[in-house]
Amino acid sequence: MENPSRRNVLITGGAVGALGALSVATPAQASSLWTWSPTGSVAGAGAGADPKGVWDDEADQLVASLLERGVVPDVNRKLAQWTKNGQTLPSGLPADLRDFIERARQLPSWTDQAKLTQAVDFNERRGLYLGVTYGFASGMMSTVIPREARAVYYSKGGADMRDRITKTAKLGYDIGTANAYGANGEMIVTCVKTRLAHAGVRHLLPQSPHWTSVADEEKPISQADMMVTWHSLPTTVMQNLVKWKVPIPAADSEAFLHSWQVCAHMLGIKDEYIPNSWSEANSQAKQVLDPILAPTPEGIKLADMLLNLATIVPGGPLRYVTKPILGALTRYVLGDEIAGWLNIRRYPLWDTIFEVGWEPFVRIREGLLELEDAPGIVQASYWAFDEILRVAALLVLSGADYPISIEIPTGNNPD
Ligand code: HEM
Repeated sequence: MENPSRRNVLITGGAVGALGALSVATPAQASSLWTWSPTGSVAGAGAGADPKGVWDDEADQLVASLLERGVVPDVNRKLAQWTKNGQTLPSGLPADLRDFIERARQLPSWTDQAKLTQAVDFNERRGLYLGVTYGFASGMMSTVIPREARAVYYSKGGADMRDRITKTAKLGYDIGTANAYGANGEMIVTCVKTRLAHAGVRHLLPQSPHWTSVADEEKPISQADMMVTWHSLPTTVMQNLVKWKVPIPAADSEAFLHSWQVCAHMLGIKDEYIPNSWSEANSQAKQVLDPILAPTPEGIKLADMLLNLATIVPGGPLRYVTKPILGALTRYVLGDEIAGWLNIRRYPLWDTIFEVGWEPFVRIREGLLELEDAPGIVQASYWAFDEILRVAALLVLSGADYPISIEIPTGNNPD
């Protein structure tokens, strides 16, 4: 467990200087005290317990038992046949798992179907911007979330990044498809399987000598960690769309938030930690996400793998969008400090093009500026920006051309 009591002792003992020193020495461990009130959550109330000390007891105990009983490979094989939300579960699953899934697949009582329909519509209309922001704001940001970077690097998936990226992208794809949470959709299945996978990681990673030697918590993926990653997704995406001045009607923005609130619930995040509005989300993100961003050796390696996607996906569409463009895009979206942490070099031409040209490009796309009236650099690079949007959407949101089943891991990354 992360050590809130030690931090409390330091603070109540007046040793604020010592806390500062601790944060400076190990920035990856720095995090603020949890003061966010559950009154701003979708539950509207709650005990207000610090989520750094809360995991997912029910799923964790179940999956630990499945792993100890040695039935996970068989369970994974059977669950591969469960693909649609409304589908009956395959026969032959252990009774305790079946009971859990039947409960876990129920949507929360506060689900608003009209908002979910609107969210799908928004995803269709804004898919191009969502591809870039999921990929280069959320995806690259995950490499400077220390706990996530370490968990990903030392878990089984860290050994095969291509497979991991494809599986993770499935969630971003499923949430935006028509019927995402409906009977023919796949989002509920994806969330419940991910919840089980996370429970597997919580059982397995503490057995990894690599992970335990660098981790600052005794069990990974707490509810706080989950919310941090959640903010790297919808909150960060929306903050970028707003920054780029993409016109987004309030109904669209609320619907997009709602689809991610439902996702959080289905992933096992407790309702008392899920923000009930964008302003609550932004204030929670400021408290839990912004202060913990930091470089780690694992995150730097993961970022390098992501930026080399062009080689990970041989002959893929990214061959037109080269590493300098991806590096400059990352710098533009996440800023100089994070780009520096990730050892992303400067690409003077592309850095300038993004800095000067991206916002006018968005305005042209939105019909708010005529191409002829835009700066010359924008006119010259319009095609490239357009291609970046297209390729990112294709990569991040088009789904794989083969069936993907998210599995409960049975081991860690051996390296
Ligand atoms: C697995 C999404 C939070 C670490 C997955 C998968 C998805 C996913 C879709 C399945 C892909 C796969 O099996 O490779 C999410 C979402 C989150 C979240 C949407 C929050 C809203 C976290 C956090 C951590 C984490 C906070 C760690 C601190 C992992 C790991 C795996 C995984 C290690 C398993 C990789 C393996 O197969 O070994 N997650 N995740 N996730 N996630 Fe998460």
